[in-house]
Amino acid sequence: MKHLLKLMDLSGQEIKQILDLADQLKYNQKHGIAHESLKGKTLAMIFEKNSTRTRVSFETGIYQLGGQPIFLSGSESQIGRGEPIQDTARVLSRYCHGIMIRTFAQETVDQLAEWSTIPVINGLTDFAHPCQVLADLMTIREKFSKLSGLKICYIGDGNNMANSIIIGGLKCGMSVTVACPEGYEPHPKAMEYALRSGGDFTLTMDIRKAAEGADVVFTDVWASMGMEKEVQARQRAFKSFCVDAEIMKLTNGAMVQHCLPAHRGEEITEEVFEAHASEIFEEAENRLHAQKAIMEILMK
Ligand code: CP
Ligand code: NVA
Repeated sequence: MKHLLKLMDLSGQEIKQILDLADQLKYNQKHGIAHESLKGKTLAMIFEKNSTRTRVSFETGIYQLGGQPIFLSGSESQIGRGEPIQDTARVLSRYCHGIMIRTFAQETVDQLAEWSTIPVINGLTDFAHPCQVLADLMTIREKFSKLSGLKICYIGDGNNMANSIIIGGLKCGMSVTVACPEGYEPHPKAMEYALRSGGDFTLTMDIRKAAEGADVVFTDVWASMGMEKEVQARQRAFKSFCVDAEIMKLTNGAMVQHCLPAHRGEEITEEVFEAHASEIFEEAENRLHAQKAIMEILMK
């Protein structure tokens, strides 16, 4: 494993390796066992979109591993003034030991990796959110002590989260159902992977059908970052795609995962969110542990 660009690039075994190390690093941290495997190393962090969790968990994570983060916002660095990504890649490769990037096009991340001599980590693109879904898989495995055979459903927009859940879930032997309105399906590449994988995958417009017997219910915002102009049209299209108490009754007493930030009253009701807050905030915490594992594997 040289980079983490998208989950499609990882084998089920590599995902397991990350989750196992993440569990160990979480244990170490909870027991005050120092683990400075990246002492003296620096992680450049490029953000072309807003963030709370990704920024703070990567910064904290690299500190805890003995290294140092360098925050670069798109607008304040030369990236915002149009410096080509291949030049940024070659420059950062001379100073740092890893690059985390949050941006729009997946191609930007792929190109950064192509031109870098150091590992590149995708901290969210319009196509994928691999770090988030690794943290989600860790959280689910903590609760059920397994992944294979569980039924997960994702209710909402066929966005970066949906794409990564489909691929990550199927790679871990889970049954994956996505419910979305017509016209808001997951990316064709994720759909193609799902069909090609031979895994248990269903796409439906019926959220009740998706929730039936589910062990885990996922949802995410109706309008992702970069879709601000579509907010009103999306509010109309997604009106009935809300995880509420009625939907939860159809599940197998499911846990709820939400990558956050959440829009209460849109994709999830306040009632369901608060009833499952401990699972959702454990998921947020696990970003730290999962990403420490990713950095250690790639940058050590
Ligand atoms: N879930 C997630 O990536 O959160 P941020 O946008 O706050 O980083
Ligand atoms: N789908 C959301 C996830 C935010 C963490 C977005 O891309 O804005």
